[in-house]
Amino acid sequence: MAEHVKEIIDRESWLARLPCGNTTLYAMYSSVTDCIVTDPSIMAVPVDDHMVHRGDGVFESFKCIDGSLYNLEAHLERLKGSCEQLGIALPVPLDEMAEIVVQTVHAGGRSAVLVRLLVSRGLGTMGINPYACLDPELYIVVYELPQTNSDQMPDGVSVAMSRIPVKAGIFAKVKTCNYLPNVLMKKEAVDLGVDFTISLDESRNLAEGATENFGIVTLGKELFMPPPDRVLAGTTARRALEFAKKLKQERVLTSAEYRPISLGMARSAAEIHIYGTTLNITPVIRFEGNPVGKGVPGPIVQRLFEMLREEMIPDSTRLTKVF
Ligand SMILES: Cc1ncc(COP(=O)(O)O)c(C=O)c1O
Repeated sequence: MAEHVKEIIDRESWLARLPCGNTTLYAMYSSVTDCIVTDPSIMAVPVDDHMVHRGDGVFESFKCIDGSLYNLEAHLERLKGSCEQLGIALPVPLDEMAEIVVQTVHAGGRSAVLVRLLVSRGLGTMGINPYACLDPELYIVVYELPQTNSDQMPDGVSVAMSRIPVKAGIFAKVKTCNYLPNVLMKKEAVDLGVDFTISLDESRNLAEGATENFGIVTLGKELFMPPPDRVLAGTTARRALEFAKKLKQERVLTSAEYRPISLGMARSAAEIHIYGTTLNITPVIRFEGNPVGKGVPGPIVQRLFEMLREEMIPDSTRLTKVF
């Protein structure tokens, strides 16, 4: 007779035993039920969804600040591209998806949140064959925005080189639900006692962080970012490059372009920047244990940060109003 006998229970008893849930999750939409819930204990994805047991899905993360979603269109466009690359049909057209996002954020009742939107291959099989899945599913989770996201540019962060192998081919370019290398990069950053790590590509050029892009400003005032063929095309990095092009017109910068960045270029840079949805534009002040430039945020990162913040204030065309 087995020593640890597990009860077989019915649906009601199962639901009654679920933990109260994570209180930093505010609302969830699931196309499985085609409804929104605000009780975190029942925010769930079926176990036979291919996204759960095969990582077969794509996602986006974006934010709502002061009651409006920032750059939603760019995120939905990237999502569409990710679905196309993996041959996953869009569960609903993008405009309908945007409406469901707005409703779910509204249901969460908070004006400053993060949103994780996931599209999965679908339910129906524990096997590997994607063609055995039923229809694609859409999940939208509204959750806590870390307090670090403020009007103020962060003081500066530390970065070390990553030992996690860079993702190959389309796996680097598509925002898939296979984020194990990214998770391990965050783990190594925590283990090393730095804020972020950055991977090198096969040519030993700078690639990207766990969930963020990088760029440098040289002593000659050139701003370079790794071309988006070995890294994810970040929506924040793209905006930052557009701002940098304006700074070039103003002759504040001499260049603003995608260009491979060698380790040597990074080591001698005047500024190193991080770009990402939750971090906005953040200065790196320590790289591999050494100060970057003068060891304090430089003038370019400050300008780019201000230009980004201007897009997040009311009446900006990049905002989608929720509240
Ligand atoms: C691997 C990776 N690189 C870069 C980024 C930054 O992209 P974005 O600026 O669109 O948030 C992300 C975002 O999560 C990411 O996952």
